[in-house]
Amino acid sequence: MIGYCEQFRPQFHFTPKKNWMNDPNGLVYHNGIYHLFYQYYPDDIVWGPMYWGHAVSNNLINWKHKPIALYPDKHGYIFSGCAVVDHDNTSGFGTEKNPPLVAIFTYHLREKEEAGRNDYQTQGIAFSLDNGDTWVKHDNNPVLGNKSIKDFRDPKVFFHKETNQWIMILVAGDHVKFYNSPNLKKWTHLSDFGKEIGAHGGVWECPDLFKLKIEGTNEEKWILLISINPGAPNGGSGTQYFVGDFDGEAYKVQYKDHKWVDMGTDNYAGITFNNTPNGKRILIGWMSNWQYGLKTPTKTWRGAMTLPRELSLIKENNKCFLRNEVIKSFDNQITQVLKKDYIYLKDVFGLKHSNFNQTEIRFNTNLSKRLSISYKNNKNESLIFEINPDKKEMILDRKQSGLVNFDENFANCFHKLTYFLSDKVVDVRIILDWSSIEIFIDHGKYVMTEQIFPTEFYKTLQISSKDSVRIENFKLNHVKSIWKDE
Ligand code: FRU
Repeated sequence: MIGYCEQFRPQFHFTPKKNWMNDPNGLVYHNGIYHLFYQYYPDDIVWGPMYWGHAVSNNLINWKHKPIALYPDKHGYIFSGCAVVDHDNTSGFGTEKNPPLVAIFTYHLREKEEAGRNDYQTQGIAFSLDNGDTWVKHDNNPVLGNKSIKDFRDPKVFFHKETNQWIMILVAGDHVKFYNSPNLKKWTHLSDFGKEIGAHGGVWECPDLFKLKIEGTNEEKWILLISINPGAPNGGSGTQYFVGDFDGEAYKVQYKDHKWVDMGTDNYAGITFNNTPNGKRILIGWMSNWQYGLKTPTKTWRGAMTLPRELSLIKENNKCFLRNEVIKSFDNQITQVLKKDYIYLKDVFGLKHSNFNQTEIRFNTNLSKRLSISYKNNKNESLIFEINPDKKEMILDRKQSGLVNFDENFANCFHKLTYFLSDKVVDVRIILDWSSIEIFIDHGKYVMTEQIFPTEFYKTLQISSKDSVRIENFKLNHVKSIWKDE
């Protein structure tokens, strides 16, 4: 393999070849290609003037790097946003035969910010007629100005078929604003949502709105995702969501309480793809956290994306929950190393492997039983995940997982997830890359995504329980690298 083997370099998660990356932007599918744009600073491994980096894929797993798509200009840096396929050429940028891809993003004008003004973020658009290879910025940018709203950013746009118009959702500090447009150029304010609801430990960022059918029914609900920084339950940045209804004008929640997409510390600013071929809702998040994201110990690049997750909606005890689980085609990346129909955990079950940091394990267990899973290397670094039914908690402990001292917040506490205790057998799936762990339980009903920086690969796995537990259908799989051809 050429390149992509520096210390901590993810082997099957998207990373830029070099330098800084944060949020995913402009996630869209068009003519057989999935596009991943991202917040990119090409000159250093810390955040700086923002560009949109670009990569493409036909399966969301193997990515090909493309040249930078959008450069800063006189209106400012290019902050987060989205992309749509303008099928009916409502913008007039293309033709109906060759509909344009239109990117809608935030301009951030540093000079105005430094002058102490509040109107430094506006919204701009750009279009591409060659499926994302080259972009032209609109002559009349910005298309949505700013009178004086601090933190006015991260537009997500979609076509609302029921009312035949484009809808934009945008954050404005502590709430979101909805706008409509006939042509992506002229935007009219419709309504606001969120001032008195949800988590408000920090500023709202990167909204998304889409509908999902409740599994097993024909009922549809609108899911509103809002990233917030700081204020996540395990510290720093996180993504909350609401379940409700949207009528083309305003959003109403079904329940007042908000929930979290991922209870780990490293899944932020996630948005979903527009225009997927099969209508699936697929989310990618930035696998980091503003609390320490600028200091993680990588040297030539900094920042990675989560694996793409398919979202679904379930109803239990009259409440709706989001599930997010790795997309099915990830299975093409794995080869089986070991399979056991069951393991009876009377004693500790131990397994050795040359590199657990490129594996997934899967098995079924009962959530009413205690369980402890630990990965270790020869340097005494360890990563521990526990299920504790007494406290109805799952706990991820990365305190001694490897390099942790680069920031005091990285490993200062255990990270917890509270679950509904039930006498139920569920699937457990744990995916480890060179610098991350992703845990999915009950098909992604409970999820934790975190970065780790072991200085040597984990080589032992131990599974144990203080109860008499039989875990079933255990599999250890190797995950192939996606960068072989780079
Ligand atoms: C979220 C965010 C966005 C902003 C971008 C700037 O991580 O703060 O709100 O558009 O990053 O890079």
